[in-house]
Amino acid sequence: MPVSCCDLWTTVGKKYLAAAAGLVFLVFVIVHLGGNLLLLLDNPNLYNSYSHHLVSLGPLLWFGEAVLLAFFLLHAVIGTLVYIRAREARPVGYHEIADAGKPSRKTLSSRTMIWSGIVILVFTILHLITFKFGEHYTVVVDGIEMRDFHTLVVEVFQKPGYVVWYLLAMVLLGLHLRHGFWSAFQSLGVNHPRYTPFIYGLGTGLAVLLAFGYIVIPIYVYFKY
Ligand code: HEM
Repeated sequence: MPVSCCDLWTTVGKKYLAAAAGLVFLVFVIVHLGGNLLLLLDNPNLYNSYSHHLVSLGPLLWFGEAVLLAFFLLHAVIGTLVYIRAREARPVGYHEIADAGKPSRKTLSSRTMIWSGIVILVFTILHLITFKFGEHYTVVVDGIEMRDFHTLVVEVFQKPGYVVWYLLAMVLLGLHLRHGFWSAFQSLGVNHPRYTPFIYGLGTGLAVLLAFGYIVIPIYVYFKY
């Protein structure tokens, strides 16, 4: 049966949208890490040329950014609505914070989704202000003038406060992804005794790898330069 826009705004529909939007952002987070790991190669020209290639995509990049922003906001709004709904349905809060153990998937990650989500939202806004709309250094590589993101990143990660904030935010990003990945597949209806443990393990592995990758960068830049 075709799904109308009104069907999507039911509780199940909202979860569906939040899950799909979350997975789109996950793809961005993976690709973005790949690009930023170039910082570990100590080759400013390579890092700047990579960023310049992306910027050169022009309208294609703007379209991607618009889609990403829309999905990010959709995910944040729906996540908050679902959280408020769940609280209204269960006004007496749980007192236990401990891991509920198997077969329950109630963990520190799942209980803190709203808080880790809020920190990631604040992080992303500040991150865009710092990098995307931050100081506009330029450099010439192979005769082409481009934005010097490498200098900006090095300058930012010379500040210990910034590095610590990134580390904290990345731990919370990892926690959010750990539960979010599995939960997204549940919301999309992928729930099978054989696949669910695999998806849960994959989510945990991805979350650890991504958080680790993003944590290494500011620490490396801080000590290297
Ligand atoms: C060490 C970690 C990171 C570094 C060095 C870094 C660096 C950058 C830089 C230089 C830009 C500007 C690129 C441009 O405007 O073309 C950027 C954009 C962006 N970053 Fe990061 N980033 C990091 C982590 C993250 C994380 C963890 C997230 C998400 C949770 C994130 C989300 C974004 C977004 C959404 C943009 C805008 C992309 C666009 O408009 O095309 N970044 N980042």
